[in-house]
Amino acid sequence: MCGIVAGTGVKNVQTLLLEGLKRLEYRGYDSAGIALQGQDGRVHRWRAPGKVVGLEALLDPKIAGSTGIAHTRWATHGVPNEANAHPHQAGRVTLVHNGIIENFKTLRAELVAAGRTFSSHTDTEVVAALFDHLIQSGRPLREAWLATLSRLDGAFALAAMVEGEPGVVFGARRGAPLVAASGAGAGFLASDIMAISGKAESVVYLDEGDIVFVRPDNIEIVSATGKPVERQLVAAPRSITMAEKGNHRHFMQKEIYEQPEVVGRTLAAYIDTEDGKVSARNGVDFAQINRLLIVGCGTASYAGQVAEYWFEKLAGLPVKVDIASEFRYRDPAFLTGDAALFISQSGETADTLEALRLCKKAGLQTIALVNSPHSSMAREADVVVPTLAGPEIGVASTKAFTCQLTALAALAVQAGVQRGQLDDAAEESRVADLMALPGLMNSALATESKIDSLASELAHASIVLYLGRNELFPMALEGALKLKEISYIHAEGYAAGELKHGPIALIEDGVDVVVIAPHDALFSKTRSSIQEVRARGANVIAITDEVGARELEGEVNTVLSLPAVNGAMTAPIISAVAVQLLAYYIAVHKGTDVDQPRNLAKSVTVE
Ligand code: G6P
Repeated sequence: MCGIVAGTGVKNVQTLLLEGLKRLEYRGYDSAGIALQGQDGRVHRWRAPGKVVGLEALLDPKIAGSTGIAHTRWATHGVPNEANAHPHQAGRVTLVHNGIIENFKTLRAELVAAGRTFSSHTDTEVVAALFDHLIQSGRPLREAWLATLSRLDGAFALAAMVEGEPGVVFGARRGAPLVAASGAGAGFLASDIMAISGKAESVVYLDEGDIVFVRPDNIEIVSATGKPVERQLVAAPRSITMAEKGNHRHFMQKEIYEQPEVVGRTLAAYIDTEDGKVSARNGVDFAQINRLLIVGCGTASYAGQVAEYWFEKLAGLPVKVDIASEFRYRDPAFLTGDAALFISQSGETADTLEALRLCKKAGLQTIALVNSPHSSMAREADVVVPTLAGPEIGVASTKAFTCQLTALAALAVQAGVQRGQLDDAAEESRVADLMALPGLMNSALATESKIDSLASELAHASIVLYLGRNELFPMALEGALKLKEISYIHAEGYAAGELKHGPIALIEDGVDVVVIAPHDALFSKTRSSIQEVRARGANVIAITDEVGARELEGEVNTVLSLPAVNGAMTAPIISAVAVQLLAYYIAVHKGTDVDQPRNLAKSVTVE
């Protein structure tokens, strides 16, 4: 979270920075700021609370310069006001930061004792002050930057410039993503290559601990002790096309609608369409794995929870699913033959990345299921299994999630085959089910207008419960999460069988309960849960299929009938479309900021 972009030797740096911030806004949008070294030799700075458009209105395009740094913030220390917005300044230093400086209080006390004053509550200003302090005490710039970094504890990416030294941007990566790049006589730094796509010709994905001096004509990378470090310079991806909303009102809506296409594209990477089998080109041999640990955060962890059912059912492979922030601090105990699968759209989520490193250190085979092919997880894992959802802009994950489920379903079939649990016919039948997904998702999207009118009623709810069983239990969790994230309605997901163990106490007249109940082997059990909440006055919305809809007639208040699915693997993926649309339209009716909901960020690179 927080986005950094910087450039030196750029023809019009103000435009580059503004465009870069717009592309990085998915990382945080509490406040934004730009600073550049003007041709008059002075540093000019603009900062504004809120989104980048607010900053844009303040900028003065007449102030030209070729070196500058910019930032879009997701607040950690200090409220999101102008004073706490980046870039921060101290003396000659201007600096932006993504991450957390854990020892900032100690450093701040030292600097206050040395006569420094502070104008914000951020940990970042302390870094700017320390760098300036060391420069003022006579240290050469390079040495002062190394000495500053040597005092910092925590996880961060930094970019800084020094007044009167327009030819260099100082950078560092420790625990938060940062890329350095060059092109057309300019040098760049950014949290994500997307920020400088189209400008950068070659790029270095910096490694942990790298310290960088970016100049218009070269990128110098050194270690903490100042020793040169060799890193591979690769051609920058040419067209990371910035997603456009097209005819859609929001990115989230567009991304929901893209699902049949991107799920199809993801399937093609895992399935041999010619012979109707899984392609298993990824090099993972599930027959050699005794237990699969699956780790992720948020929606990604729910994809893992769905997959647990699949791997156990189809492949007899024991699975343990963990939330990354718990896993990494739990001193997890490993078994011989453990392998670990990490699920992440961004490939940069701090807790998931640390969990991956922990498993790698413990000698486990690490597999990254990521949507971002250049991400830290993609680079550090032993095996990368991609999702091909394309850039996801809406903060609430939709198409990345269904692509994760699709890839996981194919991997579970692969595991079933490799472990001798699925014969040819069973494999082909599972693969055929998966191949039907894009078409089924299209039909599910056709429920949009019905969901829209249902949503107008639910927009007034103060609490919504979601229930499901088996693979649909994590979908109940995901449905509730989607609703919370974008509509701010209190929503909870429960395993339907747990209802009687507490949640039923919440039921009274008019409480809205969404039950995900396809007509599967457990339908009659879920139906009992429906009766129990209806008997207590709940307003029940059933997300089911055609057979389920017939059976439930008269027993629920509203039925959303999805296409009949012929395999348990496809049911959660199809129902995802319905819970996404429901949350989306409720948020639209409430008038909330669908694509950039309050307090959230798309890529959580701080723990
Ligand atoms: C944030 C996003 C969620 C996402 C989670 C994990 O909380 O708002 O949509 O599911 O991070 O992100 P990842 O990039 O690791 O999938």
